[in-house]
Amino acid sequence: MRFRFKTIDKSALAKNATAVVAIDLNMPVVNGRVADDFRLKRSIPTLSLLARSGTHTLLLGHLARGEDDTISLAPVCRHLNNFFPARFAKDIVEARKALAESKNGEFVMLENTRRFTGEKENDESFARELASLGNIYVNEAFSVSHRPHASIVGVPKFLPHYAGSLFSEEVAHLARAFNPSRPFLFILAGAKFETKMPLVKKFIELADLVFVGGALANDLFRAKGYEVGLSKHAERDLGFADLVKNKKLTFPSDVTIASGAVKNPDRVLPSERIVDAGPATVAALSEKITQAKFALWNGTLGEYESGFGKETEALAKILAESSTESVVGGGDTLAAIAKLNLTEKFSFVSTGGGAMLEFLAKGTLPGIEALEN
Ligand code: 3PG
Repeated sequence: MRFRFKTIDKSALAKNATAVVAIDLNMPVVNGRVADDFRLKRSIPTLSLLARSGTHTLLLGHLARGEDDTISLAPVCRHLNNFFPARFAKDIVEARKALAESKNGEFVMLENTRRFTGEKENDESFARELASLGNIYVNEAFSVSHRPHASIVGVPKFLPHYAGSLFSEEVAHLARAFNPSRPFLFILAGAKFETKMPLVKKFIELADLVFVGGALANDLFRAKGYEVGLSKHAERDLGFADLVKNKKLTFPSDVTIASGAVKNPDRVLPSERIVDAGPATVAALSEKITQAKFALWNGTLGEYESGFGKETEALAKILAESSTESVVGGGDTLAAIAKLNLTEKFSFVSTGGGAMLEFLAKGTLPGIEALEN
């Protein structure tokens, strides 16, 4: 799979260039402080390149919590100052002024782009206005590139455009799923039923083994006629009925219920709730990991956010210690591996949540296509 976008390098940055850079600034902010800057740190190579090249840089990003994506980016800008000199601009007028006053290598961060009318609608005049602030565009925000917003797909129409280095790495590593070393083990878990089901269907063709876990497995149990009691499951029939017969599809051989008991998945009672996989499941997965040459993992094996992380963490340790090429992603999955200090132990850790899943499902993203045009 070849992508036709250029990655930013020194030669593309003329002296005194002004770059408009889309970057994922969506990080947890607690009591006015950035609580986890994993995403920002992953973009430091691109930001350093811009700073070293004497580029004036405008950063475009958003901050969202659930449905609320109008939160101010001011605390994120304060945090960026730990790494680079950066000024905050509450609107486009301020951004233009701050860029004009900025020294070579300095940054200006525009307020949350989603606060502006036209960003989410990809309004052409808003995109033109953003583009008028610079003379080159860089997309470093792979993890936002499933959103056809003005800062992602509109601005590159009006400026010479490039991918940032994290963006390029994300595409290269995730695209391994379409041209993997074999055996290829795909571990898909979590609870995003509607988003993940198409991936099961697709990767049953592409992978050598697909393990379905987390709440997604409860739908598979239902398709097999098992009782899942009070466990999370999809609201509509996901169409697992035919898939469960496929020999490439595996699922938990034991489950943990809320009381802590571990049992076979066909023994769950109507009053019980499955909250995690069980140890036999992870032991079986461990064997498959040893046999695999490439493993792609997204999603937790249990209700991680409610404190049921035991088997997810056990799996994280096994995959981290294995010599299998490993690509991992997904919000709670990353939280588990960060808690265990294992982030450096995988071949690649994707910053993408929804973007990773959409890229795997479609093989491209609106933000990739915008850079290719
Ligand atoms: C993410 O957190 O996955 C990205 O920042 C995209 O955020 P969004 O879901 O608010 O578009």
